[in-house]
Amino acid sequence: MSANVSPDNAVGKKNGLLAWVDERFPLSKLLEEHVTQYYAPKNFNLWYVFGVLAMVTLVIQIVTGIFLTMNYKPDGAKAFASVEYIMRDVNFGWLIRYMHSTGASAFFVVVYLHMFRALMYGSYKKPRELLWVFGMLIYVALMAEAFMGYLLPWGQMSYWGAQVIISLFGAIPFGIGDAVTLWLKGDYIVSDATLNRFFALHVIAVPLVLIGLVAGHIMALHEVGSNNPDGIEIKKNKNSAGIPKDGIPFHPYYTVKDLVAIVIFLIVFFAVVFFAPEMGGYFLEHANFIPADPLKTPEHIAPVWYFTPFYAILRAVPDKLGGVMAMGGAIVVLFLLPWLDRSPIRSIRYRANWYKIMLFVFAANFLMLGYLGIKPATDLYTLMSRIGTLIYFGYFPLLFILSKNEVGKPLPDRVTYHGHGRAGEAS
Ligand code: HEM
Repeated sequence: MSANVSPDNAVGKKNGLLAWVDERFPLSKLLEEHVTQYYAPKNFNLWYVFGVLAMVTLVIQIVTGIFLTMNYKPDGAKAFASVEYIMRDVNFGWLIRYMHSTGASAFFVVVYLHMFRALMYGSYKKPRELLWVFGMLIYVALMAEAFMGYLLPWGQMSYWGAQVIISLFGAIPFGIGDAVTLWLKGDYIVSDATLNRFFALHVIAVPLVLIGLVAGHIMALHEVGSNNPDGIEIKKNKNSAGIPKDGIPFHPYYTVKDLVAIVIFLIVFFAVVFFAPEMGGYFLEHANFIPADPLKTPEHIAPVWYFTPFYAILRAVPDKLGGVMAMGGAIVVLFLLPWLDRSPIRSIRYRANWYKIMLFVFAANFLMLGYLGIKPATDLYTLMSRIGTLIYFGYFPLLFILSKNEVGKPLPDRVTYHGHGRAGEAS
């Protein structure tokens, strides 16, 4: 073997290349700052995998979206048939389409769990307020993305769902509402013009915004550092080298742990893609297998499951403008959470019992509203939606008042961590 290709030399060459790149681009610096020397708390639990799973889902959506766009036709006369063509004639088109439609629901499952984790551990509290606001902006962008994507297959539910949601803007008074709905649709009814603009927004504009927001989200996270299930700031306890005593480098410790979560997530994800892509009409609604017909309103219009809690709030208010304001308010109020929760205690582990009960009721009520949003608006369901809406909005002022002088359990100085020592060995 000649000296030039010896293993030692190969390593030397790699270092040389890295050095060459580093002189021109901060590659090592970026990797160190965000991966190998980003110190994350050592006590993360399962709830901390959903951020990375949200990133995986975002990648799935972007990649499958690119391939769908290659065969999809954003044209009122051709869109429905082009989706059927993708499903039947394009090689692996069915897989790409089902991955994309399942991915949309998976995104919301993951993001809702990710948000709930933040509520449990007070991750939105100082100094992570902006991180939370970035998250909320992502959530709003995600809703816009999903709403516009749903119009594209141009089925009955696509068409009438868009009709219902766009018409909500008509509730804005002083004639502004009518002008806004006309502007959004680009026509007097939901039509080819609407489909074209929704396609442009869904395929390029909103994804760009989403990617930018996710970058901001991660930058904000790495600026302040991760919270953890104890809600104890690890930066307060540093060793002589300035490294948090309870921190471990993100790589390799959490890259390996996250990989396990990613594999399990993908197994579940593909189980749904292969065996239940319609999920009984919850992921792909039955009425959407019928081509859009502007002359025939479906009997029962319901949005996809991830919008239904807000849809229930909208329908709970008898007045149209009031309903729209309640629905918008239900999202806006979440932005304010870091300032509404005044308790110095972050984690639910140490918070007062009333908080545990309130959070449980809030989450259960959100699920109930989600269920009610799918159901037809009968008298009983409407009454329940009204009670659910009151509970939803009651949570925030109550939290504001009660959290001021909250007495919880004593906080530990350091995070609690029970390692996996060998049997009989102290961890
Ligand atoms: C595309 C969507 C999103 C992506 C890719 C994403 C990504 C991440 C990642 C990778 C982390 C660090 C790991 C973790 O803590 O799980 C994180 C943390 C966080 N995210 Fe997100 N996120 C998304 C949406 C959201 C939303 C919608 C919210 C809330 C409204 C949110 C709020 C937070 C908070 C508060 C943290 C800090 C948690 C802590 O340190 O305890 N994120 N996010």
